[in-house]
Amino acid sequence: MMWSSPGRLPTTGLTWSNVSPCRRPLKTSFLRTQESGSEENLSMASSHDTIIVLDFGSQYTQLIARRIREARVHSVILDSSASVESIRVHHPRGIVLSGGPASVTGSGRPAWAKAIVREGLPVLGICYGMQVIAHEMGGRISRARQREFGRAELRVEDGADLFRGLTGIGPFEVWMSHGDRIETLPPGFKAIARTRNSPVAAMKSVHNGRRLYGLQFHPEVAHTVHGARILRNFVHRICEARPTWTMGSFLHDSIGRIRQRVGRDNVLCALSGGVDSMVAAAMTHRAIGSQLTCVFIDNGVMRKHEARQLSRVFRSHRFNYRMVDASGQFRRALGRTTDPEKKRRIIGRQFVKVFDSEAQKIGNVRYLVQGTLYPDVIESVRHRGPSATIKTHHNVGGLPTRMRLKLVEPLRELFKDEVRALGKELGLSDDMIYRHPFPGPGLAIRILGEVTTDRLRMLRDADAIFLTELESHGLYRKTWQAFAVLLPVRTVGVMGDSRTYEHVISLRAVVSVDGMTADWARLPHRFLGHVANRIINEVRGVNRVVYDISSKPPSTIEWE
Ligand code: XMP
Repeated sequence: MMWSSPGRLPTTGLTWSNVSPCRRPLKTSFLRTQESGSEENLSMASSHDTIIVLDFGSQYTQLIARRIREARVHSVILDSSASVESIRVHHPRGIVLSGGPASVTGSGRPAWAKAIVREGLPVLGICYGMQVIAHEMGGRISRARQREFGRAELRVEDGADLFRGLTGIGPFEVWMSHGDRIETLPPGFKAIARTRNSPVAAMKSVHNGRRLYGLQFHPEVAHTVHGARILRNFVHRICEARPTWTMGSFLHDSIGRIRQRVGRDNVLCALSGGVDSMVAAAMTHRAIGSQLTCVFIDNGVMRKHEARQLSRVFRSHRFNYRMVDASGQFRRALGRTTDPEKKRRIIGRQFVKVFDSEAQKIGNVRYLVQGTLYPDVIESVRHRGPSATIKTHHNVGGLPTRMRLKLVEPLRELFKDEVRALGKELGLSDDMIYRHPFPGPGLAIRILGEVTTDRLRMLRDADAIFLTELESHGLYRKTWQAFAVLLPVRTVGVMGDSRTYEHVISLRAVVSVDGMTADWARLPHRFLGHVANRIINEVRGVNRVVYDISSKPPSTIEWE
């Protein structure tokens, strides 16, 4: 074990004297309480070696944790203000300081448990995290004359530890995103890599016994060519963390946490028909069996025949299941609303109403399970970092505070492909696991403008043709998400000898890894032509089909 008692700490010559106390609660658990807005700390020391990621507000913090999981090491994200004690509870093998929007040269720097460094643990600072180390250790940081955003060529100057295995391969591409840079290294540090604009693109301490490292670039993003290797070097070689973490162990630990959290209370799960809620339900069912009741709400804006098909799938699983047909209620509440955010909020409110009333029927229900994923969280909750609210995803930020059920969100820190791997671990069918994501507000946000019965019919029919054809041409699994959108315009056409003035369908198909960024799918022209033909011929009221060729960013996947 790396921890030494405070009385036996080696003298490190650190200049850090003021140890910041913990002022905020931990952000460790995936189980959060909605009621109080606080997070319940159910963290327990894992049986696996653990790396702590201290979050300074970077939009990439979860990606760092994910890369560590990919290196099969358990990781826990804590708020940057976590106390030394709350870090110690996890018996970490090492610490990563994330990037963040603050500047060490400005005021309002987040406080953090600097004293942890005295305990001899390896620390890796990334971007802002590196500047924190450099600044605290006596280096000089200033605003860079030229800010560096995007790709840069990294030249490794020291191929030991962090860059082990990466020398002799020439410069490689890394992803930079910083406005400050290190002008003078702290005493006892050396530069170990450079780019054209950053003479100190990476550094390490050469003081005997200290294991402090810094990277100015982001090893966690896919654009950094050897990023995963660099993080693995830190985690496996420098921290000597054993690669024992697997999806199976995640499942096992999560089941334990769910049991511990809910005790003997009843739990409701909102099934949407997507893989996320299904995995969350299956996992919770393993944990608490018949204490779980799954509820599927037909909100009147599902895809064609979807409610019926899903009912069949849910019945085949052994958990308690209820289907609530609330389509009339949802449609009435939507009324003539056209504003996308209002539609989301209306649907969110109706969901909560229906769940509340179901909960009362079942009795003693205190928890609601949701399959919220990390990209939902990052895009929904106003984050301290640079990621602003883009859309209110009803299952996270849009839930009214009056809701009386507490949330259990066991997938809150995972990305979609990780959830699919978890689904496999749980034995779900491939059809379920590879279902395209479907937004909670359903077709209401794919009918631009007002949702009417006739518009729903047109969209459902067009969408069904598109999806069926994707399946039969073996293209469904090759796309991350594909659907039709009904535009709020009409165009002129000619059918037979008559002039038509009818609706436009846009087809949207994207490829993506996690839904946070996406590119339009290069579907074969012949295929698109065939689908357009079928839609125009078979869907009454549509006389034009277009294909959306925008990527995310700057567009989003959904149109509203
Ligand atoms: P955007 O449109 O934000 O979508 O690029 C990213 C992913 O999120 C899904 N999405 C939603 N999911 N409630 C959900 O549960 C929502 O309000 C919502 N809006 C978008 C979208 O389908 C895509 O997979």
